[in-house]
Amino acid sequence: VSGKIADSNLADKGRRSYEWASSRMDIVEKIRARNESSQPLTGFRLGFCLHITKETSVLAMAAKSLGADIAICSANPLSAQDDIAAFLYNEGLNVYAWRGETEPEYHQCIRNVLAFKPVIVTDDGGDLHSLAHQQNAKGIEGGTEETTSGVKRLAALERTSMLLYPVIAVNNARTKYLFDNRHGTGQSTLDGILRATGILLAGKNLVVCGYGWVGKGVATRARGMGAIVIVTEVDPIKAIEAKMDGFAVMPMLDAAPAGDIFVTCTGQTCVIRKEHFLKMKDAAILANAGHFDVEIDTKNLYGISSCHPVQINPNIERFDVNGRRLFLLSKGRVVNLVAAEGHPPEVMALSFANQLLSILYIAKNHDKMEIKVHSVPEQIDQDVGSYSLDSMGIRIDQMIEEQERYQHSS
Ligand SMILES: NC(=O)c1ccc[n+]([C@@H]2O[C@H](COP(=O)([O-])OP(=O)(O)OC[C@H]3O[C@@H](n4cnc5c(N)ncnc54)[C@H](O)[C@@H]3O)[C@@H](O)[C@H]2O)c1
Repeated sequence: VSGKIADSNLADKGRRSYEWASSRMDIVEKIRARNESSQPLTGFRLGFCLHITKETSVLAMAAKSLGADIAICSANPLSAQDDIAAFLYNEGLNVYAWRGETEPEYHQCIRNVLAFKPVIVTDDGGDLHSLAHQQNAKGIEGGTEETTSGVKRLAALERTSMLLYPVIAVNNARTKYLFDNRHGTGQSTLDGILRATGILLAGKNLVVCGYGWVGKGVATRARGMGAIVIVTEVDPIKAIEAKMDGFAVMPMLDAAPAGDIFVTCTGQTCVIRKEHFLKMKDAAILANAGHFDVEIDTKNLYGISSCHPVQINPNIERFDVNGRRLFLLSKGRVVNLVAAEGHPPEVMALSFANQLLSILYIAKNHDKMEIKVHSVPEQIDQDVGSYSLDSMGIRIDQMIEEQERYQHSS
């Protein structure tokens, strides 16, 4: 076993967090139990680039107990939880992750995972896929991708005929984005903002940039806590949706002077930029929930601030712009993973059930899979939905024969 972590003494704390998360993620546990006797991942080397959280440890331990050898690094330089990294390392995984990696260290950790010669790669954001492609993806038979931004990058590779192995877009399963992107990010983004700032949300103007799955979750949860939510969009249909869901909709230039808190949820770059910073009111708070730290133009913010940023606490920096104070959370990186602990385990159970079943699918079918971005097989999506209902003790109706016939009649 090789690896680099912050402190192996944290392994026991990590184990307890793993056990706690596992107790809330019984779908993953059930999939593991169902497959354990056949050890379907024996002989498979898996490369993971995921946020190193307690929920990720449940996925990694399940894959390990199905026979896989695993190397894992963090999907963000600031999101790794050191106790979990220590626990996984102690369990015999090759772990290259610690909180507070520099950019070069972050990329080195990904290179270390590729040096392990994985056969299946599982990524969150596309950095591992991208580096694998720069190295000609030798030996890689297939991959999976966890998030919207990563799927977009893979689709671009596919469009230019540069994709080198089949990938399953786990993000696009209904049992993933409807729950993880919306309810998971909705709750954990507010968790991150509140842990960092301790502010009262009730009565605040909270601007949500982007009304996709993440934006919908953040907007709905913020309203639930009494915030007055303003949505900005570039897609007219999403904008109407936001309006009819009861939110104010306006361009970012108009939202800038109105907002007390801004949350970017777009997967786009420079969504909040100089012209907006200059119009913001004193004490505005800026946070990002999108995958990359490009949505708030932080370089520009550092540039136009009349003072060096003042570190208020580990997750708040103060800038002075035009005599007004602007507060940036988590350096503009995913606030729910940097200032809080990422998504709740119940929601990651759905996402990682899709991941585990997709990895098992690739292990079994990679020879037959076309080199393209695949949807999660419908049966997997349906199964994850059924397992989830079972685990919540919820039963639903089934179509009667007459309804089946009616459904398929012309
Ligand atoms: N923080 C997390 O834990 C987490 C979880 C899931 C997804 N994500 C990331 O969040 C981002 C959004 O994911 P999603 O699934 O909601 O994507 P999505 O495609 O469903 O939604 C993005 C929305 O942003 C809008 N948009 C694009 N540019 C904009 C701009 N300049 N101003 C306003 N709106 C704009 C789009 O029209 C779209 O409606 C991605 O980067 C994704 O990878 C983060």
